[in-house]
Amino acid sequence: MTDTRTDVSHETPGDPSTGGAREGDAVVGIRADGTEGLPRPAQRRIITIANQKGGVGKTTTAVNLAAALAAHGQRVIVIDLDPQGNSSTALGVDHRSGVPSTYELLIGEIDLREAVHASPHDPNLYCVPATIDLAGAEIELVSMVAREGRLRNALDETILDEMEIDYVLIDCPPSLGLLTVNALVAAREVLLPIQCEYYALEGVGQLLRNIELVQAHLNRSLHVSTILLTMYDGRTKLAGQVADEVRKHFGDIVLRTVIPRSVKISEAPGYGMTILEYDPGSRGALSYLDAGREMTERAAAMNTGQEQ
Ligand SMILES: Nc1ncnc2c1ncn2[C@@H]1O[C@H](COP(=O)(O)OP(=O)(O)OP(=O)(O)O)[C@@H](O)[C@H]1O
Ligand SMILES: [Mg+2]
Repeated sequence: MTDTRTDVSHETPGDPSTGGAREGDAVVGIRADGTEGLPRPAQRRIITIANQKGGVGKTTTAVNLAAALAAHGQRVIVIDLDPQGNSSTALGVDHRSGVPSTYELLIGEIDLREAVHASPHDPNLYCVPATIDLAGAEIELVSMVAREGRLRNALDETILDEMEIDYVLIDCPPSLGLLTVNALVAAREVLLPIQCEYYALEGVGQLLRNIELVQAHLNRSLHVSTILLTMYDGRTKLAGQVADEVRKHFGDIVLRTVIPRSVKISEAPGYGMTILEYDPGSRGALSYLDAGREMTERAAAMNTGQEQ
């Protein structure tokens, strides 16, 4: 077991995509063989990845965290709730119109088993893809019975049990519309990715108020369990300032791991891959593996409801 915490040889020295993109103790306990199976949670975790601000790394986090958790031996489904279907693409799952998808699942035409596709990247990894048909769903859902609870009802416990799923990660579109509300009602946890850039906290207050509303009226167990700092560029003062501010404000729910800004992370989906497939030794891949490890470490506390 080689400790690679100080090993940056995977990256080209001076590569602007990764150079210096490490924040203090950000990288925890990476080992070259860091994908050995970690304990699975006693209770399934359903996690919505939300932030109505666009382009903050929701989809990138959904697919790469899912791949990391799968590599750590967890069984994972990604629910693609964004009509753009970017998660489906990165997971190598077909999402052309007509493919069984979240759209048919939400309107009740098919069940979860019919909607789930295996990702070719990992036998522990599945995806319910989003097709362009989902674009109309927000309007169609308005007139449906129990419109906010469609996804919750579709996440059939029996099927999830049979598939032995440990994690359901839901990738939201950049809005607070009915699709995101469905994701918030279906989950117990929210993972909030925050981009280490100007205006990082823009809109976060509004999201938190919406979460409180959903909590009060539709889903009492919902809480923000995890914040992940994304696109961290260690060469800039700003990234450090944003990280400090977020940690001061949100405390322990912020993962110690930060995701570096890395060109390779942004290239991977173009090849229908996660960063773990595209460049397993890269800083980006190792950071998502670390985030996955931290998530599993927190699972025990979550199961007993002790998580802050
Ligand atoms: N760590 C990173 N380093 C470099 N580029 C990144 C990183 N994370 C995400 N990106 C890139 O930033 C862009 C936005 O990321 P992503 O699509 O994950 O955000 P999003 O929040 O899902 O966006 P949307 O709100 O449109 O759904 C993408 O082009 C992605 O490849
Ligand atoms: Mg997205």
